[in-house]
Amino acid sequence: MATAVAPAPVISAPPKDNPEDKLLPGEHTLPASWWTSEKVFELEKRSIFNKSWMFCTHSSRFAKAGDYFSYTVCGINFFIIKSKVDGQLKAFHNVCRHRAFPVVRKEQGSSTILGCKYHGWSYNSDGVLTKAPQFEQVEGFKKEENSLFPIKTHTTDQGLVFVNFSQEEDVIPFSTWFQGIEKDFSEYDFDDYEYNMSYELNGKFNWKTLMDGYQECYHCPTAHPGLSNAFKMETYKVVPKTRYCRHYAEVVQEDVEFVKDDADADEESSWFGFGKKKESNAKVEKIANPGGESNGLWMYLFPTNGINCYSPAYYTLRVLPISATETLLHYDVYTKKGLSEEKQKEFIDFLQLIELEDFNLCEQTQKNLNQGVYGTGFLHPTKERGVLFYQGLVRDMVKEHFAAEQKAGKQINPAFVGNATTESALELEEICNKLDCSTEKTEQKLDW
Ligand code: FES
Ligand SMILES: [Fe+2]
Repeated sequence: MATAVAPAPVISAPPKDNPEDKLLPGEHTLPASWWTSEKVFELEKRSIFNKSWMFCTHSSRFAKAGDYFSYTVCGINFFIIKSKVDGQLKAFHNVCRHRAFPVVRKEQGSSTILGCKYHGWSYNSDGVLTKAPQFEQVEGFKKEENSLFPIKTHTTDQGLVFVNFSQEEDVIPFSTWFQGIEKDFSEYDFDDYEYNMSYELNGKFNWKTLMDGYQECYHCPTAHPGLSNAFKMETYKVVPKTRYCRHYAEVVQEDVEFVKDDADADEESSWFGFGKKKESNAKVEKIANPGGESNGLWMYLFPTNGINCYSPAYYTLRVLPISATETLLHYDVYTKKGLSEEKQKEFIDFLQLIELEDFNLCEQTQKNLNQGVYGTGFLHPTKERGVLFYQGLVRDMVKEHFAAEQKAGKQINPAFVGNATTESALELEEICNKLDCSTEKTEQKLDW
């Protein structure tokens, strides 16, 4: 009997242009001080990162109960583990409830019992405290009140795993935050791809410096000759949706030109000649498009993630802010099952060349932002619509949070889990708040 075969997903075309879009008045970037000030960065952490849904990984990387991966996002250490209790992926702060030592110390591993190597407390894969040596007799100590602090997670139908650090009651649900995103992702068969490799770049720039470039392809004809050979740049379109943007571009179906420069024969990457200008003695070859044969399904997820689907592979980008002027870029590449090693390498080289081009743009730009001579710049209403969109979200979230902190007279950290539970701790906490507030006021005079 023939089995029904699900129709292959089709990458849809972008919506038609709205003539009114072109009539939008021009707007400027946020001020450059927001790319350099540590105080603004700390405020962004509380306003944005500690209450946004952030992408982490794909569920296919967790084969069995106890498999885990650990992460640091904006200084917060946590891990995601496949629970032995119900098979679900769960996230916990990587902070022992005893005296805050990290419970998990490897980037990835597998264990259904997580033992803290400081004083020997143990937790199961559901984060429940199972052993606290010599605490059995301690009056008032309840094991069930000392489980690991859970972090909200959401796994989409496509297996994309997100976390949200917020402990606030009014946290926006994933389905509202990214309303419509699963429909967009359903145009791509994530099950047909498997994890291949990861790499990281450590950049001396603000996280927004990278996002600015990521959110437009106005720079592509100038800065990405290879990408501009593989996709028709005149069709590139960024469409803002609910806290995410979908990027569209038509693929070039014909073979594309590859300039082979003999002087580059020692280059590790076979693709470093891709899209290069022809030197006098260079040979031009026609080769199959390394970007594949499908139109782009590329997504920007506010605030700092990208999930970019091509036919040979998809890759995910996690932009991990470290300070106002340092950011770690983490890439995970998943290639199509059964893709030849040669094709895998072609795609990864193609991708890495584009990422390096962007990385260099960011480092040079940030150097100038740091000098304090540049203030703001004019953004193109359609070509840089994605930049306007995400910077608008940054501005609104930061302003709203800043107003709430001013009203409360203290910092508000939505990710804070350790509320003081005793009278004495509350009193001491209050002393700290008062000190923080007086420091804040002095600093505001200087920075704001
Ligand atoms: S800090 Fe983990 S057992 Fe003490
Ligand atoms: Fe770029």
